[in-house]
This record gives sequence, structure tokens and C-alpha cells, in this order.
Amino acid sequence: MRLIPSIVFLLMGSLIFAQDAGPEFVGNKKCKMCHNKTEKGAQYTKWETTGHANTFDILLTDEAKAIAKKRGLKTTPDLAGECLQCHVTGWGTPTGYQLEVDETDKRAVSQNNALKSVGCEACHGAGSLYKGKKDMLAIEAGTLDGATLGLVKPTEQTCLGCHNDKSPTFKPFDFKERSAKIAHRYP
Ligand code: HEC
Ligand code: HEC
Ligand code: HEC
Ligand code: HEC
Repeated sequence: MRLIPSIVFLLMGSLIFAQDAGPEFVGNKKCKMCHNKTEKGAQYTKWETTGHANTFDILLTDEAKAIAKKRGLKTTPDLAGECLQCHVTGWGTPTGYQLEVDETDKRAVSQNNALKSVGCEACHGAGSLYKGKKDMLAIEAGTLDGATLGLVKPTEQTCLGCHNDKSPTFKPFDFKERSAKIAHRYP
């Protein structure tokens, strides 16, 4: 008899735990599966042609190394949180880009590589909960609020999270003009 209440308690506990588990980063490749059809705007290919696809590699350049040296960083920029925070996806979160992954875990390595850029989720939010086709269609139709599953509607504030004067190479940011440069709306 005493077992039943504790099982119920355990079940409730795991339900609460499951609800607590927030959205996790899944990486661009997962979005590409569904968001690269020409007739739907080919978002992935469009993204790939913007600087946002290159933000990690830029940290490997001599220009980046010179900036890091001038700032007195103890490591190269590709290893420095001071730089990575705006040059990868999900920096400083448990499921975002990590400096160290278990090299024998192929899935983890490939997942981490998929976060080495300012990817879809850097603006739209971590995708594990909203990426299902049924939910995506419902969000699009307006019958489901994407925000409850972690989907972010990017605004100027989203951009200003990185395009600000903490960036060593900061250039004034005009939202309208810059948005046009990365536009990937439906046709
Ligand atoms: C299984 C397929 C699938 C996957 C995976 C997927 N999507 Fe979608 N998404 C859709 C569909 C279907 C729509 C509805 C519009 C359409 O038909 O293209 C949509 C709509 C959207 C919208 C517009 C929502 C709105 O408010 O109208 C955004 C933004 C979006 N997806 C971002 C993403 C991102 C970012 C990822 C990766 C983390 C992702 N999607 C993964 C299928 C998918
Ligand atoms: C997570 C950080 C981050 C966020 C968020 C972000 N950016 Fe960027 N953005 C960067 C970095 C880093 C570069 C530098 C890439 C380069 O020089 O190639 C960049 C470069 C750009 C460029 C120039 C590259 C090109 O292809 O022309 C444009 C335009 C741009 N961002 C627009 C935006 C807009 C609009 C938003 C918001 C909707 C935004 N960014 C949000 C980090 C970010
Ligand atoms: C607050 C966010 C942020 C931080 C922190 C940051 N960057 Fe950037 N970085 C950007 C953005 C945004 C751009 C795109 C330039 C722009 O539009 O301002 C950029 C562009 C660059 C570029 C390309 C050159 C250019 O003029 O576009 C280099 C190189 C670079 N960053 C190196 C670094 C290094 C090295 C660090 C660490 C010392 C660093 N960044 C830290 C946001 C950041
Ligand atoms: C730098 C930020 C940024 C990145 C990176 C980004 N997006 Fe977007 N995305 C936006 C903005 C801004 C909008 C326009 C939102 C609006 O007008 O309501 C948008 C709109 C969309 C839409 C809706 C289009 C429409 O016409 O309503 C889809 C789908 C989408 N993005 C998918 C993606 C996918 C897939 C990726 C990665 C391959 C991606 N986005 C990367 C900022 C971004």
C-alpha cells in the first residue's frame, strides 16, 4: 500500500522534470531538412551565403588573432569566450557550442560543429521543441503560439545582442538595411 503513493509521487516528479527540460539546440542541419526548398524561400541556402555562416572561421584569421592579442587574451580567439559569445550559436548554454566535446562521440562532435556559426537558432531560438512538422505548421497557421515551444520571432533587439559596441570591430547597425542583407522570407 505504501508503494502506490510513492510511485505516484515519482511519476509526478518525472512529469515536472520533463516539463522543466527547456528547448535544446539542434543545429542548422536539422532546419535545412525542411527549409531549403526553392519554392518556399530556400532559407538554408540564403543563410549560407551570408556572413553569419562564417562567424567561427573569421576567428581563425590573422585579423582576429591581432585583435585578441591587442586585448591581452590568453588564448587564440577561437578558444576565447570573449569572442565566441557572438561568433557561435548558444554560447554559455548547456546545449549550445562547447569548447570541449568527447571526441569519441561522433554525434556530439557533429552536433557541436553544426553550432560553429551564427545559425538559425541564434536568432530563432533553440529548436528541439518546435522543429516537429505538425507544430511548425500549426505555428505558421497561427493556431499554436511558437513562443511556448521556444521559437523566437527575431526583432531588432535580437540583432543588437551581438551587433553592439562590445564588438571589437563594431560598425553602426541599421536594422532595416542589415535585415534586407540577410532576408530569407517566403516568396
Ligand atoms: C520537419 C520539418 C521542419 C523542421 C525540421 C523545421 N521546420 Fe520550420 N517550418 C516547417 C514548416 C512546414 C513550416 C510552415 C511554413 C512552411 O510550409 O514552410 C515552418 C515554419 C517555420 C517558421 C515560421 C513560423 C511562423 O511564425 O510563421 C520559422 C521561423 C521556422 N520554421 C524556423 C525553423 C528553424 C529555425 C528550424 C530548425 C531549428 C526549423 N524551422 C525546423 C517545417 C520544419
Ligand atoms: C549571435 C550573434 C549575432 C546575432 C544575434 C546577429 N548577428 Fe549579424 N553578424 C554577427 C557576426 C559575428 C557577423 C560577422 C560576420 C562576418 O563578418 O562575415 C555578423 C554580420 C552581419 C552582417 C554582414 C554580413 C553579410 O553577410 O552581409 C549582416 C547584414 C548582419 N550580421 C545582420 C544581422 C541582423 C539583421 C540580425 C538580426 C536579425 C543579426 N545580424 C543578428 C553576429 C550576429
Ligand atoms: C558583442 C558581440 C561580439 C563580440 C564579443 C565579438 N565580436 Fe567579432 N563581430 C561581431 C559582429 C556583430 C561582427 C560584424 C561586424 C559588425 O557589423 O559590427 C563581428 C566581426 C568580426 C570580425 C570581422 C571583421 C569585420 O570588420 O567585420 C572579426 C575579425 C572579429 N569580429 C573578431 C572578433 C574577436 C577576435 C573577438 C574577441 C576578442 C570578437 N570578434 C568578439 C560581434 C562580436
Ligand atoms: C541573424 C538572424 C537570423 C538567422 C541566423 C536566421 N533567421 Fe530566419 N528570420 C530572421 C528574421 C529577422 C526574420 C523575419 C521575421 C519577421 O519578419 O517576422 C526571419 C524569418 C524566417 C522565416 C519566416 C519567413 C516568412 O516569410 O515569414 C523562416 C521560415 C526562417 N526565418 C527560417 C530560418 C532558417 C531555417 C534559418 C537558418 C538556415 C534562419 N531562419 C536563420 C532572422 C534570422
